[in-house]
Amino acid sequence: MLPPLGEEHAITLAEGNTPLYHLQRCARSTGIESLYAKHQGMNPTASFKDTGMTVAASSAHQAGFRWVACASTGNTSASMAAYAARGNMRSLVLIPDGKISWGKLSQSLDYGALTVQLRTDFDGCVRILTELVRQKPVYLLNSVNPYRIEGQKTCAIELLEQFGWDAPDHIIVPGGNLGNSSAIGKALLEMRELNLISRLPKLSIIQAEGANPFYRSVREFNGAKLEAMTAQTMATAIQIGNPASWKKALRVLRASGGEVEQVSEQEIAEAKAEIGADGIGCEPASAVTLAGLKKLRARGFVKPVETVVLILTGHVLKDPDFTIKFHRGDLFPEPPSSEAAKGATLRSKALQRAPIALDADLGAVIATLDAAETAP
Ligand code: F0G
Repeated sequence: MLPPLGEEHAITLAEGNTPLYHLQRCARSTGIESLYAKHQGMNPTASFKDTGMTVAASSAHQAGFRWVACASTGNTSASMAAYAARGNMRSLVLIPDGKISWGKLSQSLDYGALTVQLRTDFDGCVRILTELVRQKPVYLLNSVNPYRIEGQKTCAIELLEQFGWDAPDHIIVPGGNLGNSSAIGKALLEMRELNLISRLPKLSIIQAEGANPFYRSVREFNGAKLEAMTAQTMATAIQIGNPASWKKALRVLRASGGEVEQVSEQEIAEAKAEIGADGIGCEPASAVTLAGLKKLRARGFVKPVETVVLILTGHVLKDPDFTIKFHRGDLFPEPPSSEAAKGATLRSKALQRAPIALDADLGAVIATLDAAETAP
């Protein structure tokens, strides 16, 4: 199911074979007992990008390129920089200035990429890169690269193997540039074609409300067109207004009978803390899956007896700023206005675990421990 590549060109960091976790607390809070997370953040550069990057970087190596490049919201660039370094290639990263997390930026620096911060958004970076690769002998490693998509199929193949080839009812993914949903959907269709599975899981795609061009395309235009937008969300990984692979994603959404949903910033923050409280954790963009599941469950699209897998795309340490702000109560500086937002704030408060600064005094620590014991 993967493209043939010469073994001498294989660039690998031992990616893949990521864990499948049962989400115990989230199962209770959503009322879905069979709720699992396939954690792609447990890959070598801590995001799902590595399974595609090993294939695409190897193909760049086989084609004899000296330079590879991508535009990124931070995870593709981190992954590309690492794989390029392993393959003795140079890498050029274009990222939107001030719009990616420090964790991701630091990775691309550490792995030795030429890192350029452009004063634009992700979509602006893509425009410049598309022109650049026409003029310079640089290999494009964005997810429009078909080798990336082929490699990212392995997430779905592993998942089915982990389920003993008995397909779950639902797979839920975040939607940004929509390469990942396309890859997972393609793998599902191919596995059915090969009779590895007898039925298709429904593949649903979740976007942030402020970065929802695909959601709007499906809901408002029945997939007939996609209106690009200026995207805004604290889940910076999916702050994308003009997704490249929307037509591919639409095809697999339709083929599998999945749904689209959008979730608010507050819902993302809360879902992220819930996944954290399950001892798993993920970055904000990955948490849209749990937030979206709650909505799909409320609409009756997902039933309590069904088996659901959330694809967690990035590791909790990718964006510690977001996590710390949430737990300190600093993520949303404006007081909530609507009743729904007030309810969400209360739910958030119950999840918040702000650090407590104390003098180095045993009595003070014991008093804090006792207070925590009696707190709800
Ligand atoms: N989750 C995370 C953590 C991501 O980094 C991305 C995309 C997505 C979800 C969405 O996946 O684009 O295939 O629909 N990150 C890209 C990047 C755009 O540059 O790192 P998608």
